[in-house]
Amino acid sequence: MALVSAKEMLEKARDGKYAVGQFNINNLEWTKSILQTAEELRSPVILGVSEGAGKYMTGFKTVAAMVKAMIEELKITVPVALHLDHGTYEGCYKCIEAGFSSIMFDGSHFPIDENIEKTKELVKVCKKHKMSLEAEVGAIGGEEDGVIGKGECANPDECKKIADLGVTMLAAGIGNIHGKYPENWEGLSFETLAAVKEKVGDMPLVLHGGTGIPTDMIKKAISLGVAKINVNTECQLSFQEATRKYIEEGKDLVGKGFDPRKLLAPGCEAIKATVREKMEIFGSIGKA
Ligand code: 13P
Repeated sequence: MALVSAKEMLEKARDGKYAVGQFNINNLEWTKSILQTAEELRSPVILGVSEGAGKYMTGFKTVAAMVKAMIEELKITVPVALHLDHGTYEGCYKCIEAGFSSIMFDGSHFPIDENIEKTKELVKVCKKHKMSLEAEVGAIGGEEDGVIGKGECANPDECKKIADLGVTMLAAGIGNIHGKYPENWEGLSFETLAAVKEKVGDMPLVLHGGTGIPTDMIKKAISLGVAKINVNTECQLSFQEATRKYIEEGKDLVGKGFDPRKLLAPGCEAIKATVREKMEIFGSIGKA
C-alpha cells in the first residue's frame, strides 16, 4: 500500500473515539519494528520524523525512499502516513519535495500573525499535493532535537484562527511536554483542551509528549477530541533498556552475539512491545 495522508485515518479516529499513534523513527530498525507491529495489530500508523532524525538518516529523501520500499517489501497493508514532526518552514518544503505524505509546520514560536501567514500558505501547497498538514498553537514544553518549548497552554481563540485556515489537524499545548514528565508535573489541562475543542469543533486534535502520560489522562484526552498522539522518548527508553541488558548480561560476547542483527534485536523487540502497548491504550488496534 502506498503512503497515505493522515486526513482519513484521523477523521475515522475522531469519529470512532480512538487515537492513531505517531511513533518517531530514527533508523531502519525503528521503522521496521513500528511497521511490523502496526501490520500485525491491523492498526493505522503515523511515522514521525523530526528534522534532526531526518538529518541523521542523511536527509528526507533517504527517509521517504526507505519507508516506501519497506512498506512494499514487508507487504504492509495498513494505512501508513510519513509525517514531518515539528517542521520548520524550509523543512516542510523539503519533505513535500521528498515525497512525505504529511507535514507538521510548527509556527508556535512565531507571533500568531506570522504563524497564520505561513500556515495559510502551506495549507494551499498541501491541498495541491493531497498531503495532510498539522499546525501548532501554544508551545509544547520540554526539548526535542534542539527545539525547546516552554509548555504553555494554547489560546483557544488563536486555535480557532489556525483551524479555520483549513489545516488537517491541530496540536494545541495543554501542559504537555516532550520527554519524561517531572515529578511535580501538574497534569494535562483538560480545561484548556475542552475550551479549544469548543472553538475548533470537529478538527482532529494532536497530543504531543505521549511518553509517560497516565492512561486515564490519555483516555480523557481522546474523549475530548484528541485523535493523534505522538510518542518518541518511550521507544528510545525501551530500546536503551533492552540493549543495556543484553550487553550487561554479556550476550554480545557469546558466539556471534556481536553481530549487529543480534545486538539490536532485543531493542527492536522492546520497541515493538512499547508500540503495541500504546496502540492498545489509544484504541487503534483492528481499525485499519
Ligand atoms: P515524547 O518524546 O515525549 O513521547 O514526545 C513525542 C512527540 O511529541 C513528538 O512530537
